[in-house]
Amino acid sequence: MTKIVSSWNDWDPLKRVIVGRCDNSVIPPEEPATSEKVPVDSEMRGMWGLRPLETVERGNECLENLVKILEDRGVIVDRPTPLQWNQAIGTPDFRNDSMMTCMPPRDILLTVGNEIMAAANSFRCRYFEYLAYWPLMEQYFEEDPEFKWTQAPRPRLTDKSYKHNYYDEKITLEERLVRTANKDFVTTEVEPMWDAADVMRMGKDLFIQHGLTTNRAAMDWFQRYYPDFRVHAVNFPGDPYPIHIDATFVPLRPGLIINNPHRPLPEEQRAIFEANDWQIVEAAQPAHTEPPALCYSSVWLSMNCLVLDPKTVIVEASEVYQQEQMDKLGMNVIPCDLRDAYPFGGGLHCSTADVYREGDCLDYFP
Ligand code: ARG
Repeated sequence: MTKIVSSWNDWDPLKRVIVGRCDNSVIPPEEPATSEKVPVDSEMRGMWGLRPLETVERGNECLENLVKILEDRGVIVDRPTPLQWNQAIGTPDFRNDSMMTCMPPRDILLTVGNEIMAAANSFRCRYFEYLAYWPLMEQYFEEDPEFKWTQAPRPRLTDKSYKHNYYDEKITLEERLVRTANKDFVTTEVEPMWDAADVMRMGKDLFIQHGLTTNRAAMDWFQRYYPDFRVHAVNFPGDPYPIHIDATFVPLRPGLIINNPHRPLPEEQRAIFEANDWQIVEAAQPAHTEPPALCYSSVWLSMNCLVLDPKTVIVEASEVYQQEQMDKLGMNVIPCDLRDAYPFGGGLHCSTADVYREGDCLDYFP
């Protein structure tokens, strides 16, 4: 009997992991959920189609750097099977002119204990992305008799799932921040929608970011699906584009979290951490003032690190300030050149999905 799948948090010793692939990646066409997310001043606005081949090759090279570091340390690395992403798709409820990519896996797969669940993503272009991981799921299912292979209820993503004209071309940054503060996001509440990267796993507690990609109905769904867990909705009013929690609030080990200084966790939501002696420290400044070309994410991918165990962390090679801070916080730092993979959806944590970490489901907030 082989145990292949088990992971309860983001810091226990990592033994097996999925690393994405950039092949056939597409800049997706605008759709109700994403037109609202591509910043107005972005060079990507209005552009869609296959990403240039040199950038795909370079992105894959970066991911190979990560694979090598992991394998050298004895971590088993699994890879998805990319589809031809530049195909039009349709369901009875919507059509979209293209899919996107199988980067980053963190957005699609949520591992909780011996279960890996494909998310209920809110982008239409990501509706079929899970298929790239199905060959791995089949393998785990065959080899690990305890593996629970799950698919969250598929959202219909009809026009009713989105607020239309939510995103006016002329909307200012200030107005976006007001909306974030008011928890006014592009998705409606007609069905649960969530990206796996909005879920931070901490043993018996799941902290889930309410933002552009995950709605409140998802919180309700999670609490009913995991009745023995505590589900906490968190939100970060300083973030004008709240998508995915892992460049905002990142645990390094039990008791220690780094928090994006532009997106502090509101006082009332800090209480549970303070009451349990967790320290929330401001993350170091990013080394760059701009994200790389054709990148959706902010410069704060600097803090999107991959923790290998409570004393060891992989940090992007050019992120010298973040490395320095990790070192001061008592972590051994392994640098990895990954920046040219950022345009494909994220940094070191995003580019991976947990399969196996040693350790059990603990209660860190008793
Ligand atoms: N929204 C984050 C930022 O730009 C990027 C998060 C990327 N994470 C991911 N899992 N794709 O700061």
